[in-house]
Amino acid sequence: MKSTLAILAMAISVPSMAIAQTPPPYQPGMGDLMVTIVQPRHLKLGLAGQARNWDYADYAQHELEESLEAVEKHIPKWRNLDIAALMAATVKQPLEAIEKAVKAKNAAAFDASFKQLTDACNACHQSSNLPAIVIKVPDASAFPNQEFRVTRP
Ligand code: HEC
Repeated sequence: MKSTLAILAMAISVPSMAIAQTPPPYQPGMGDLMVTIVQPRHLKLGLAGQARNWDYADYAQHELEESLEAVEKHIPKWRNLDIAALMAATVKQPLEAIEKAVKAKNAAAFDASFKQLTDACNACHQSSNLPAIVIKVPDASAFPNQEFRVTRP
């Protein structure tokens, strides 16, 4: 009887020990999402536009928009800040302007709206009390294994 109880106790405690050892699901923080999904997509969109690669720029614009939406969805509040409201006040309008410029294949409008977007990234960093985080229009590619120029007619 004693041994049956001991086995029962073990059977009960083993799974709960296993649960205790499983780490909680990884939840990337704001800084993690910014460097992993937002920053590279801002760069790729910039490079696509500089290369006047409108098909790829169209794709990259939507990917960046989705990345920013993912940030807003997963981190609706950062410290005391309402992230959705800040997104709406900063990057939303420039992203729409970029979409229009890309659809119109308008190089000057792309350059102007991409600069506006980059300024909007920084406006949010300033509002977040992080003026040291300064984003700029890219002057080089960090992706030597990807072609940003138009390779098809
Ligand atoms: C809604 C506000 C907001 C917007 C818009 C925003 N950011 Fe951020 N960003 C933050 C906050 C807040 C942090 C700091 C997060 C932390 O430290 O955990 C941050 C951090 C970063 C960092 C990390 C800096 C580092 O060196 O580790 C990068 C890079 C970055 N943002 C890029 C961008 C880019 C590019 C855009 C525009 C496409 C952008 N961000 C738009 C709020 C914003």
